[in-house]
Amino acid sequence: MQSDCQFEQQASSGLSSATSSLENLTLLEGARCSTDLSKVTDNQIQDILSSQCDSEFTFRLLRRDDYGRGIMNVLGQLTIVGDVTQEAFEKQFEWMFPLHKDTYHIVVIVDNKLDKIIGSGSLIMERKFLRSTGNCGHIEDVAVDSTYRGKKLGIRLIATLRDIASRALGSYKVTLDCAEHNVKFYEANGFKIKGTQMAWYREGEKQKL
Ligand SMILES: CC(C)(COP(=O)(O)OP(=O)(O)OC[C@H]1O[C@@H](n2cnc3c(N)ncnc32)[C@H](O)[C@@H]1OP(=O)(O)O)[C@@H](O)C(=O)NCCC(=O)NCCS
Repeated sequence: MQSDCQFEQQASSGLSSATSSLENLTLLEGARCSTDLSKVTDNQIQDILSSQCDSEFTFRLLRRDDYGRGIMNVLGQLTIVGDVTQEAFEKQFEWMFPLHKDTYHIVVIVDNKLDKIIGSGSLIMERKFLRSTGNCGHIEDVAVDSTYRGKKLGIRLIATLRDIASRALGSYKVTLDCAEHNVKFYEANGFKIKGTQMAWYREGEKQKL
């Protein structure tokens, strides 16, 4: 029996206009525009995040000092996190940002009153040669703290990651893997089953089923 499914979503129609305007900037302005281009993209990402914020919750990118706000507790509700010290967390963060900031986009949800992280989801961008050197977004590690579930925060988190991938970063598709019991949740977000997930774990590596 298939236990895991892979989902794929074609990017929204807004993508083509975002992509073409970004491409035009590159073509028209040559070398100077790489700085301008990343500025445009950063602003677009910020606009997408801001559009989800309200008085109770902030949607923003992960920060180096988020260890103390409970990020590992949220991730621990998804799978085994292991014994990650603050030092190890910061070392991993510094490997990702700012050097790999175009590849990793980790969005967190903060409870404004408690200044505590209650949700997290990652978008990993893959650059391809095919699809006219297209970009593909991969959503990973989505979790909402158990006491905050059922408030549509998960829906808003997926919409945020999907919009960053498609509208800001020009992905032609967004994919993710999930357990069968979460299929309906992702279908509610417009994703469709596409293919089957395969996984290989190193010998002795624990799996959370
Ligand atoms: C899956 C998860 C992120 C959903 O977060 P959430 O904030 O509770 O989801 P929402 O409130 O936005 O739910 C949106 C809709 O999806 C439904 N839904 C949520 N989780 C669901 C699930 N596991 N199965 C089926 N439907 C689900 C909700 O009932 C709601 O439907 P409605 O609009 O008809 O009321 C959360 O349950 C979670 O963190 N689970 C543990 C970690 C995990 O499994 N992550 C996913 C890894 S692929």
